[in-house]
Amino acid sequence: MITTIGHDLSHVIALLQEGNVVALPTETVYGLAADANNDEAILKIFSVKNRPSTNPLILHFATLEQAYPYVSNFPVIFNELANHFCPGPLTFIVPRSSLVSDLVTGGQSSVAIRFPDHPLFVKLIENLNGPIAAPSANLYGQLSPTNSDHVYEQLAGRIPYILEGGACQHGLESTIIGLVNKKVVIYRHGGITTEALSTVLGYVPQTLTQEQSGILTSGMVRHHYATQTPLFLGFKPQQENQNALQITLTKNEQIIGPHYVLSDSSSLLEAARNLYAVLHQADKQTFKKIYIEPFPNEGLGKAMNDRLNRAAAKFSNH
Ligand code: TXA
Ligand code: MG
Repeated sequence: MITTIGHDLSHVIALLQEGNVVALPTETVYGLAADANNDEAILKIFSVKNRPSTNPLILHFATLEQAYPYVSNFPVIFNELANHFCPGPLTFIVPRSSLVSDLVTGGQSSVAIRFPDHPLFVKLIENLNGPIAAPSANLYGQLSPTNSDHVYEQLAGRIPYILEGGACQHGLESTIIGLVNKKVVIYRHGGITTEALSTVLGYVPQTLTQEQSGILTSGMVRHHYATQTPLFLGFKPQQENQNALQITLTKNEQIIGPHYVLSDSSSLLEAARNLYAVLHQADKQTFKKIYIEPFPNEGLGKAMNDRLNRAAAKFSNH
Protein backbone atom coordinates (compact mmCIF):
# COMPACT_ATOMS: atom_id res chain seq x y z
CA MET A 1 0.00 0.00 0.00
CA ILE A 2 1.27 3.46 -0.88
CA THR A 3 1.02 6.02 1.93
CA THR A 4 0.38 9.61 0.87
CA ILE A 5 0.85 12.69 3.04
CA GLY A 6 -1.49 15.50 1.98
CA HIS A 7 -4.10 18.16 2.66
CA ASP A 8 -7.08 16.60 0.84
CA LEU A 9 -9.89 16.66 3.40
CA SER A 10 -12.59 15.32 1.05
CA HIS A 11 -10.36 12.37 0.18
CA VAL A 12 -9.95 11.64 3.90
CA ILE A 13 -13.72 11.78 4.40
CA ALA A 14 -14.22 9.33 1.52
CA LEU A 15 -11.51 6.99 2.90
CA LEU A 16 -13.12 6.99 6.36
CA GLN A 17 -16.59 6.42 4.92
CA GLU A 18 -15.24 3.44 2.98
CA GLY A 19 -13.94 1.89 6.22
CA ASN A 20 -10.25 2.77 5.93
CA VAL A 21 -7.97 3.99 8.68
CA VAL A 22 -6.23 7.33 8.19
CA ALA A 23 -3.73 9.28 10.31
CA LEU A 24 -5.01 12.68 11.46
CA PRO A 25 -3.55 15.56 13.43
CA THR A 26 -4.96 16.43 16.86
CA GLU A 27 -3.77 19.06 19.33
CA THR A 28 -2.04 16.33 21.40
CA VAL A 29 -0.46 13.75 19.05
CA TYR A 30 -1.41 12.34 15.63
CA GLY A 31 -4.23 9.80 15.81
CA LEU A 32 -4.96 6.68 13.77
CA ALA A 33 -8.60 7.26 12.92
CA ALA A 34 -11.54 5.10 11.89
CA ASP A 35 -15.32 5.47 11.77
CA ALA A 36 -16.31 4.29 15.27
CA ASN A 37 -19.56 2.83 13.90
CA ASN A 38 -17.76 0.51 11.48
CA ASP A 39 -16.42 -2.65 13.16
CA GLU A 40 -14.25 -3.67 10.22
CA ALA A 41 -12.56 -0.30 10.23
CA ILE A 42 -11.93 -0.57 13.99
CA LEU A 43 -10.33 -3.99 13.56
CA LYS A 44 -7.94 -2.39 11.06
CA ILE A 45 -6.72 0.05 13.74
CA PHE A 46 -5.58 -2.87 15.91
CA SER A 47 -3.85 -4.68 13.07
CA VAL A 48 -2.10 -1.56 11.71
CA LYS A 49 -0.72 -0.75 15.19
CA ASN A 50 -0.07 -4.39 16.25
CA ARG A 51 -2.12 -3.49 19.30
CA PRO A 52 -3.78 -6.12 21.54
CA SER A 53 -7.53 -6.06 20.93
CA THR A 54 -8.18 -5.91 24.69
CA ASN A 55 -6.72 -2.42 24.79
CA PRO A 56 -9.66 0.00 24.38
CA LEU A 57 -9.82 3.04 22.08
CA ILE A 58 -10.86 6.65 22.71
CA LEU A 59 -13.98 7.92 20.91
CA HIS A 60 -13.63 11.50 19.64
CA PHE A 61 -16.67 13.79 19.39
CA ALA A 62 -17.28 17.35 18.22
CA THR A 63 -19.72 18.25 21.01
CA LEU A 64 -21.07 16.94 24.30
CA GLU A 65 -24.53 16.59 22.75
CA GLN A 66 -23.09 14.29 20.12
CA ALA A 67 -21.46 12.14 22.82
CA TYR A 68 -24.47 11.69 25.14
CA PRO A 69 -26.14 8.83 23.16
CA TYR A 70 -22.90 6.81 23.47
CA VAL A 71 -22.76 7.22 27.24
CA SER A 72 -25.15 5.80 29.83
CA ASN A 73 -24.25 8.34 32.53
CA PHE A 74 -22.20 11.53 32.23
CA PRO A 75 -21.51 12.75 35.80
CA VAL A 76 -22.27 16.42 36.58
CA ILE A 77 -18.67 17.03 37.61
CA PHE A 78 -17.51 15.85 34.17
CA ASN A 79 -19.88 18.37 32.59
CA GLU A 80 -18.23 21.06 34.65
CA LEU A 81 -14.73 19.90 33.71
CA ALA A 82 -15.76 19.67 30.04
CA ASN A 83 -17.00 23.27 30.22
CA HIS A 84 -13.58 24.36 31.48
CA PHE A 85 -11.22 22.25 29.42
CA CYS A 86 -12.99 21.03 26.28
CA PRO A 87 -12.38 20.99 23.45
CA GLY A 88 -8.93 20.07 24.70
CA PRO A 89 -6.59 17.34 25.92
CA LEU A 90 -8.87 15.71 28.51
CA THR A 91 -10.38 12.21 28.16
CA PHE A 92 -13.30 10.99 30.29
CA ILE A 93 -13.89 7.34 31.20
CA VAL A 94 -17.65 6.90 31.56
CA PRO A 95 -20.20 4.06 31.50
CA ARG A 96 -20.99 3.20 27.88
CA SER A 97 -24.32 2.83 26.11
CA SER A 98 -25.20 -0.01 23.75
CA LEU A 99 -24.32 2.19 20.76
CA VAL A 100 -20.62 1.68 21.45
CA SER A 101 -19.02 -1.27 19.69
CA ASP A 102 -17.44 -3.96 21.90
CA LEU A 103 -14.38 -3.69 19.69
CA VAL A 104 -13.88 -0.08 20.85
CA THR A 105 -14.04 -0.89 24.57
CA GLY A 106 -12.35 -4.26 24.52
CA GLY A 107 -15.55 -5.61 26.06
CA GLN A 108 -15.37 -3.26 29.09
CA SER A 109 -18.51 -1.56 30.40
CA SER A 110 -16.87 1.86 30.18
CA VAL A 111 -15.86 4.00 27.23
CA ALA A 112 -13.24 6.74 26.86
CA ILE A 113 -14.47 9.97 25.23
CA ARG A 114 -12.62 13.09 24.19
CA PHE A 115 -13.32 16.39 22.41
CA PRO A 116 -10.25 17.24 20.34
CA ASP A 117 -9.26 20.85 19.81
CA HIS A 118 -8.19 20.68 16.18
CA PRO A 119 -10.19 22.28 13.37
CA LEU A 120 -9.42 19.56 10.78
CA PHE A 121 -10.30 16.73 13.15
CA VAL A 122 -13.56 18.43 14.19
CA LYS A 123 -14.49 19.01 10.55
CA LEU A 124 -14.04 15.30 9.86
CA ILE A 125 -16.22 14.27 12.81
CA GLU A 126 -18.92 16.64 11.54
CA ASN A 127 -18.72 15.24 8.02
CA LEU A 128 -18.76 11.65 9.18
CA ASN A 129 -21.76 12.45 11.33
CA GLY A 130 -20.51 10.25 14.15
CA PRO A 131 -17.56 9.63 16.44
CA ILE A 132 -14.04 8.81 15.33
CA ALA A 133 -12.15 6.09 17.17
CA ALA A 134 -8.45 6.91 17.35
CA PRO A 135 -5.42 5.77 19.32
CA SER A 136 -2.08 7.50 18.82
CA ALA A 137 -0.74 6.82 15.31
CA ASN A 138 2.32 4.80 16.34
CA LEU A 139 3.14 1.11 16.48
CA TYR A 140 2.13 -0.41 19.82
CA GLY A 141 4.56 0.48 22.61
CA GLN A 142 6.59 2.95 20.57
CA LEU A 143 6.96 6.73 20.61
CA SER A 144 3.84 8.76 19.79
CA PRO A 145 3.98 10.94 16.65
CA THR A 146 3.76 14.72 16.85
CA ASN A 147 4.16 15.43 13.13
CA SER A 148 3.31 13.71 9.85
CA ASP A 149 6.90 12.50 9.29
CA HIS A 150 6.84 10.61 12.59
CA VAL A 151 3.68 8.82 11.44
CA TYR A 152 5.21 8.06 8.06
CA GLU A 153 8.34 6.55 9.63
CA GLN A 154 6.30 4.02 11.60
CA LEU A 155 3.23 3.40 9.46
CA ALA A 156 4.26 3.88 5.82
CA GLY A 157 2.85 1.01 3.74
CA ARG A 158 0.22 0.21 6.38
CA ILE A 159 -2.23 3.10 5.83
CA PRO A 160 -3.35 4.95 2.69
CA TYR A 161 -3.22 8.55 3.89
CA ILE A 162 -1.75 10.91 6.50
CA LEU A 163 -3.56 14.24 6.77
CA GLU A 164 -0.96 17.00 7.08
CA GLY A 165 -1.65 19.27 10.04
CA GLY A 166 1.83 20.49 10.98
CA ALA A 167 3.36 19.93 14.41
CA CYS A 168 0.93 19.18 17.25
CA GLN A 169 0.31 22.12 19.53
CA HIS A 170 0.61 20.21 22.86
CA GLY A 171 2.83 17.30 21.86
CA LEU A 172 1.70 15.06 24.76
CA GLU A 173 -1.34 12.76 24.93
CA SER A 174 -4.53 13.78 26.72
CA THR A 175 -5.02 13.42 30.47
CA ILE A 176 -7.35 10.49 31.19
CA ILE A 177 -9.73 10.78 34.14
CA GLY A 178 -12.47 8.68 35.70
CA LEU A 179 -14.80 8.81 38.70
CA VAL A 180 -14.25 6.50 41.70
CA ASN A 181 -16.38 6.85 44.85
CA LYS A 182 -17.64 10.19 43.51
CA LYS A 183 -14.10 11.56 43.26
CA VAL A 184 -12.26 12.33 40.05
CA VAL A 185 -9.14 10.20 39.59
CA ILE A 186 -6.34 10.40 37.02
CA TYR A 187 -5.51 7.27 35.00
CA ARG A 188 -2.94 8.93 32.75
CA HIS A 189 -1.21 12.29 33.18
CA GLY A 190 -1.27 14.45 30.08
CA GLY A 191 -2.00 17.84 28.57
CA ILE A 192 -4.36 19.04 31.34
CA THR A 193 -2.34 19.24 34.54
CA THR A 194 -3.32 17.97 38.00
CA GLU A 195 -3.06 21.58 39.22
CA ALA A 196 -5.53 22.81 36.58
CA LEU A 197 -8.00 20.03 37.46
CA SER A 198 -7.60 20.81 41.17
CA THR A 199 -8.58 24.46 40.77
CA VAL A 200 -11.95 23.39 39.32
CA LEU A 201 -12.48 20.38 41.62
CA GLY A 202 -11.40 22.01 44.87
CA TYR A 203 -9.30 18.92 45.72
CA VAL A 204 -6.25 17.20 44.26
CA PRO A 205 -7.34 14.20 42.17
CA GLN A 206 -5.56 10.96 43.03
CA THR A 207 -3.50 9.13 40.43
CA LEU A 208 -4.49 5.48 40.11
CA THR A 209 -2.04 2.82 39.02
CA GLN A 210 -3.06 -0.17 36.95
CA GLU A 211 -3.32 -2.40 40.02
CA GLN A 212 -5.44 0.09 41.91
CA SER A 213 -7.86 0.72 39.08
CA GLY A 214 -8.38 -2.86 37.97
CA ILE A 215 -8.58 -1.74 34.33
CA LEU A 216 -5.89 -1.95 31.75
CA THR A 217 -4.93 1.07 29.71
CA SER A 218 -1.84 0.99 27.55
CA GLY A 219 -0.87 4.27 29.17
CA MET A 220 -0.54 2.27 32.37
CA VAL A 221 1.58 -0.53 30.97
CA ARG A 222 5.02 -0.32 32.51
CA HIS A 223 6.95 -0.57 29.21
CA HIS A 224 5.54 1.95 26.83
CA TYR A 225 6.24 5.14 24.89
CA ALA A 226 9.68 3.71 24.21
CA THR A 227 12.54 4.71 21.95
CA GLN A 228 14.55 2.03 20.10
CA THR A 229 17.80 3.40 21.56
CA PRO A 230 18.21 2.53 25.25
CA LEU A 231 16.95 5.46 27.31
CA PHE A 232 17.96 6.37 30.85
CA LEU A 233 16.80 9.04 33.27
CA GLY A 234 19.56 11.29 34.58
CA PHE A 235 22.95 12.55 33.42
CA LYS A 236 25.41 10.55 31.36
CA PRO A 237 28.68 9.42 32.93
CA GLN A 238 31.73 11.34 31.56
CA GLN A 239 33.24 8.31 29.76
CA GLU A 240 30.18 8.07 27.49
CA ASN A 241 30.76 11.44 25.80
CA GLN A 242 30.35 10.84 22.07
CA ASN A 243 28.24 7.69 22.00
CA ALA A 244 25.58 8.96 24.31
CA LEU A 245 23.22 11.87 23.88
CA GLN A 246 22.19 14.06 26.78
CA ILE A 247 18.79 15.78 26.74
CA THR A 248 18.08 18.49 29.30
CA LEU A 249 15.13 20.73 30.01
CA THR A 250 17.19 23.88 29.58
CA LYS A 251 20.73 25.08 28.73
CA ASN A 252 23.46 23.51 30.81
CA GLU A 253 27.09 24.61 30.29
CA GLN A 254 28.39 21.57 32.15
CA ILE A 255 27.28 19.07 29.53
CA ILE A 256 30.14 17.92 27.31
CA GLY A 257 29.41 16.15 24.01
CA PRO A 258 26.13 15.73 22.13
CA HIS A 259 23.36 17.63 23.87
CA TYR A 260 19.75 18.65 23.04
CA VAL A 261 17.88 21.32 24.96
CA LEU A 262 14.06 21.11 25.15
CA SER A 263 13.39 24.73 26.12
CA ASP A 264 15.85 27.62 26.32
CA SER A 265 13.52 29.35 28.76
CA SER A 266 12.86 26.25 30.96
CA SER A 267 9.22 26.25 29.86
CA LEU A 268 7.52 22.91 30.55
CA LEU A 269 4.93 23.80 27.89
CA GLU A 270 7.62 24.21 25.24
CA ALA A 271 9.47 21.11 26.48
CA ALA A 272 6.27 19.03 26.19
CA ARG A 273 5.74 20.27 22.64
CA ASN A 274 9.32 19.26 21.74
CA LEU A 275 9.80 16.09 23.78
CA TYR A 276 8.61 13.39 21.35
CA ALA A 277 10.10 15.20 18.34
CA VAL A 278 13.51 15.34 20.03
CA LEU A 279 13.25 11.66 21.02
CA HIS A 280 12.29 10.69 17.44
CA GLN A 281 15.25 12.68 16.13
CA ALA A 282 17.65 11.20 18.69
CA ASP A 283 16.43 7.69 17.92
CA LYS A 284 17.24 8.05 14.21
CA GLN A 285 20.91 8.81 14.86
CA THR A 286 23.66 6.43 15.86
CA PHE A 287 23.75 7.13 19.59
CA LYS A 288 24.13 4.03 21.74
CA LYS A 289 22.28 5.57 24.66
CA ILE A 290 20.02 8.50 25.42
CA TYR A 291 20.15 10.16 28.85
CA ILE A 292 17.41 12.58 29.81
CA GLU A 293 17.21 14.82 32.83
CA PRO A 294 13.99 14.19 34.82
CA PHE A 295 11.56 17.12 34.87
CA PRO A 296 10.38 18.96 37.97
CA ASN A 297 7.45 16.82 39.16
CA GLU A 298 4.80 19.49 38.67
CA GLY A 299 2.46 20.65 35.91
CA LEU A 300 3.31 19.03 32.58
CA GLY A 301 6.53 17.72 34.16
CA LYS A 302 4.44 14.96 35.78
CA ALA A 303 3.15 13.69 32.44
CA MET A 304 6.60 13.87 30.86
CA ASN A 305 8.24 12.02 33.78
CA ASP A 306 5.53 9.38 33.52
CA ARG A 307 6.29 8.76 29.82
CA LEU A 308 10.05 8.71 30.41
CA ASN A 309 9.77 6.28 33.32
CA ARG A 310 7.79 3.89 31.13
CA ALA A 311 10.23 4.24 28.25
CA ALA A 312 13.22 3.71 30.57
CA ALA A 313 11.54 0.69 32.20
CA LYS A 314 12.05 -1.18 28.92
CA PHE A 315 15.81 -0.86 29.35
CA SER A 316 16.16 -1.54 33.06
CA ASN A 317 16.55 -5.03 34.47
CA HIS A 318 14.09 -4.56 37.28
O1 TXA B 1 -4.29 12.52 23.19
C1 TXA B 1 -4.77 11.40 23.08
O2 TXA B 1 -5.46 10.88 23.97
C2 TXA B 1 -4.51 10.65 21.77
C3 TXA B 1 -5.22 11.38 20.62
C4 TXA B 1 -5.06 10.68 19.30
O3 TXA B 1 -6.56 11.57 20.94
N1 TXA B 1 -4.99 9.30 21.86
C5 TXA B 1 -4.36 8.36 22.59
O4 TXA B 1 -4.93 7.11 22.44
O5 TXA B 1 -3.39 8.59 23.29
P1 TXA B 1 -4.20 5.76 22.93
O6 TXA B 1 -5.08 4.65 22.51
O7 TXA B 1 -2.82 5.76 22.40
O8 TXA B 1 -4.24 5.90 24.48
C6 TXA B 1 -5.52 5.94 25.11
C7 TXA B 1 -5.50 5.21 26.40
C8 TXA B 1 -5.08 3.77 26.27
O9 TXA B 1 -4.10 3.56 27.28
C9 TXA B 1 -6.34 2.99 26.52
O10 TXA B 1 -6.06 1.76 27.12
C10 TXA B 1 -7.10 3.93 27.44
O11 TXA B 1 -6.85 5.20 26.90
N2 TXA B 1 -8.54 3.68 27.42
C11 TXA B 1 -9.37 3.73 26.36
N3 TXA B 1 -10.61 3.36 26.70
C12 TXA B 1 -10.59 3.06 28.01
C13 TXA B 1 -11.55 2.59 28.94
N4 TXA B 1 -12.82 2.35 28.60
N5 TXA B 1 -11.15 2.41 30.21
C14 TXA B 1 -9.88 2.64 30.57
N6 TXA B 1 -8.91 3.07 29.74
C15 TXA B 1 -9.27 3.26 28.48
MG1 MG C 1 -0.80 5.57 22.50
